[in-house]
Amino acid sequence: LQNMDSYETIQIEKQESVGILTINRPDKLNALNSKVHSEGIAALKKLRDDEGVRVLVITGAGEKSFIAGADISEFAGQTPVTQRAVFQNPSLFNSIDEFPKPVIAMINGFCLGGGCEIALACDLRIVSENAKIGQPEINLGIIPGGGGTQRLTRLIGEGKSMEMILTGDMIDAGTAHDLGLVNHVYSAEALREETMKIANKIATKSPIALQMAKEAVKTASKANLDEGLRREIDLFAICFSSEDKEEGVSAFLEKRKPEFKGR
Ligand code: COA
Repeated sequence: LQNMDSYETIQIEKQESVGILTINRPDKLNALNSKVHSEGIAALKKLRDDEGVRVLVITGAGEKSFIAGADISEFAGQTPVTQRAVFQNPSLFNSIDEFPKPVIAMINGFCLGGGCEIALACDLRIVSENAKIGQPEINLGIIPGGGGTQRLTRLIGEGKSMEMILTGDMIDAGTAHDLGLVNHVYSAEALREETMKIANKIATKSPIALQMAKEAVKTASKANLDEGLRREIDLFAICFSSEDKEEGVSAFLEKRKPEFKGR
């Protein structure tokens, strides 16, 4: 493991071709303050341009929490204008959503409010058995502002999303799995290893095909079916301009493993 950069509130590591971004405020259960937002956005820009990073994992430091939401202590003194600026594009949420490589949320405990919204902006969500997931904003007299009402509803449907957002109740890992909110549940001890297995598997695929696949799947919740199908054909066709497509097809015909270079 190597520490790539020095930030105050986050930590970046690289393990082979997988980047790991850790929110590093365990004393505050990794609550998102303005420094996490700005450092996170800056780190994502660098990771995006780093060809050595093919998949990104986002997690929280410590054993108790992924992210316990927005830093409530920073709410005092916030105005509609300052809050709008934090949540408007380019926000941390959109920077993850639009990140051109697969992003996996590795959820090790509390995943609340803005933390749930970070997880929802990721492509896969893998949780530990002790995870607790919720959108508790309603208890503070506010509502989600990082995409929760939209991305949660698209993922699990209006009825369940509405219940989580109106009650503010947390759900456990098993319930989240039943709802399709998370992809896999592992014991806390196995979480990292199992997440890295999935990340490493994805990292062996063509980075170009991964980018096109992510964009195509994301189009499904943004466009109508005709537009989405047209977009899919365009993205599918783009793959045919890549050396990786030649490599993938040759490797299959030669009965060997492909070596994708991202070209
Ligand atoms: N913002 C700021 N600080 C937070 C925080 C948040 N969202 N969540 C936790 N913390 C801080 C606590 O204030 C506490 O700090 P302290 O030790 O300086 O007092 C520390 O993190 C540990 O949290 P604590 O509440 O003592 O842990 P717990 O195990 O008793 O409870 C939670 C855990 C997650 C249930 C509880 O911290 C909580 O409800 N947090 C707020 C969740 C929330 O509403 N998020 C959405 C914000 S929009």
